[in-house]
Amino acid sequence: MLVVLLLCSLLLLKETQPWGFKNGIFHNSIWLEQAAGVYHRESRRGRYQLTYREARAVCGYEGGALASYQQLEAARLIGFHVCAAGWLDRGRVGYPIVKAGVNCGFGKVGIIDYGYRLNKSETWDAYCYNPHSKECGGVLTDQQRLIQSPGFPEEYQDQQICYWHIRVRLNQRILIHFLYFDVEDDTDCLSDYLEVYDSYDDVSGFTGRLCGDSLPDDIISTGNVMTLKFLTDASVTAGGFQLHYSALNSTLSSSKHTLL
Ligand SMILES: *[C@@H]1O[C@H](CO)[C@@H](O)[C@H](O)[C@H]1NC(C)=O
Ligand SMILES: *[C@@H]1O[C@H](CO)[C@@H](O)[C@H](O)[C@H]1NC(C)=O
Repeated sequence: MLVVLLLCSLLLLKETQPWGFKNGIFHNSIWLEQAAGVYHRESRRGRYQLTYREARAVCGYEGGALASYQQLEAARLIGFHVCAAGWLDRGRVGYPIVKAGVNCGFGKVGIIDYGYRLNKSETWDAYCYNPHSKECGGVLTDQQRLIQSPGFPEEYQDQQICYWHIRVRLNQRILIHFLYFDVEDDTDCLSDYLEVYDSYDDVSGFTGRLCGDSLPDDIISTGNVMTLKFLTDASVTAGGFQLHYSALNSTLSSSKHTLL
């Protein structure tokens, strides 16, 4: 409880960085309305580990599908930049570059296109398209909404990974209020956990990792975006969680947002 409170106070002090490195890859966490639905995914095992079939399954699991070249380009045009090649639909591979850099995209700007791969066993990351949210993750733009672990109130399943990206209006903030919480408890929450990021992705803005069965305190974002990541391992499962988020009209200042 205390930890969450502490994290909340820290949250109020920091600004979210829109660009950041994760596993040596330069990501952009800028999220704009028109890009709704396109996002990058890598395997639970790390970078470039997904065959075409696995990439389709990763997107499908969250209720989406592999993005098309056009959907990726539409997202790129308004700021979606990820320096990691991923599967697109029909077996194409590429990645979106907004800012030219020597270490990524050969100094070019645009979709770096590796074309349709003949060998579908090659392993890359994935670009998914999911304009609507499903039970396990999704892109949420509603002013308020219930989020719960898959199957809730039944126990959740092993080997799950769900991401919920929440985006409310510019100058609004997000209040998360927990209604029920029971996630396999262990030291440092290594097995199953719910992670909270004060950012549009899980690259920057890490706020806290939650497990156990005490109800966490409320959490308020610094900006208008937030990401929740729910991961479960292969053993014990528990009751899961249910939370409610709502948009708050920020009263602090108009500079407190993440669309820099
Ligand atoms: C297809 O790609 C996989 C993974 O890179 C590789 O192991 C395999 O040998 C390739 N198959 C062919 C026919 O090139
Ligand atoms: C926030 O502001 C918007 C636009 O000014 C208004 O429509 C909405 O009702 C407000 N929401 C709350 C919770 O005050």
